[in-house]
Amino acid sequence: MIKFTVTSTKGGVGKTTLTANLGALLADMGLRVLLIDADVQPSLSKYFALATRKPSAGLTEVIVRGELTPSCITATIYQNLDIVVSDDPEGNLSHWLLNRIDRGFRLRFALQSPALVDSYDCVLIDTQGAVGPLQDAAVLAADILISPITPEILSAREFKDGTLELLERLEPGSALGATLGPIKAVIYRQDRTADARIIASGIRNDFIKLKDRVCVLDTVVPHAKAYKEAATLRIPVHRHERKRTGVMPSAYSVMHQLAWELIPSLEGAFADSFHARARIA
Ligand SMILES: Nc1ncnc2c1ncn2[C@@H]1O[C@H](COP(=O)(O)OP(=O)(O)OP(=O)(O)O)[C@@H](O)[C@H]1O
Ligand SMILES: [Mg+2]
Repeated sequence: MIKFTVTSTKGGVGKTTLTANLGALLADMGLRVLLIDADVQPSLSKYFALATRKPSAGLTEVIVRGELTPSCITATIYQNLDIVVSDDPEGNLSHWLLNRIDRGFRLRFALQSPALVDSYDCVLIDTQGAVGPLQDAAVLAADILISPITPEILSAREFKDGTLELLERLEPGSALGATLGPIKAVIYRQDRTADARIIASGIRNDFIKLKDRVCVLDTVVPHAKAYKEAATLRIPVHRHERKRTGVMPSAYSVMHQLAWELIPSLEGAFADSFHARARIA
């Protein structure tokens, strides 16, 4: 089972859109995928329609019990795609966690339950933009961190400062047995202006120097209306835009490139081919 956490200290960069669409693509490839909504604003919980009218218990139970049991999981209407919903609109979980000595590792340990490891191939955790104990717990639960970054100068600066701060804050935790996963930055929502291209290449150069901890993926997710349209229709973007004409690649193609880059053993596997599971075993 491979665990990704999608994180960024900046809000509105595309975390939820990326988490939902990557999860749905991997599910369509035949992987058993569990999404976890660790944002107090439950956008991921509402992204796809759920198979039941009322969701099961959600993240609160996972964190408080320190265990992820089937009662905390809700099925979406899509095959192979389940979710642990966010059920903490008042942000009580963060306060609860603050008083726990094991706050950083609580979600990580909950994800180690044998039943979960046997039931899913991939877990994808969406986080809130603001720094806090819940975000730290989500970050420390991951094998790999994914950070969408918009090629705009203020976002690029915020990303660099925020990432350095994250490394300084959480890397000492390694001593307690929780190693911070590698950070894979994705240039996200790039438009076709020269400015965006210059900043994107600046980001690549800058991060070469970041202690080997951050790599910038080759895949670039363009700014495209398909992502918003798919969110409105509540369908995975690779199903919404399979082909497109023009220079920009289709969402189907971009999302596959991204999945293959993040999980190289999947390269060549496609949504609907349903042969991918064996590749990550
Ligand atoms: N590739 C894209 N091209 C254009 N618009 C996009 C793209 N991806 C996402 N968006 C839009 O950008 C907005 C912000 O996306 P999203 O909610 O995923 O960000 P977020 O990082 O999760 O935000 P928050 O910090 O509030 O949780 C949404 O309106 C979404 O539809
Ligand atoms: Mg979000």
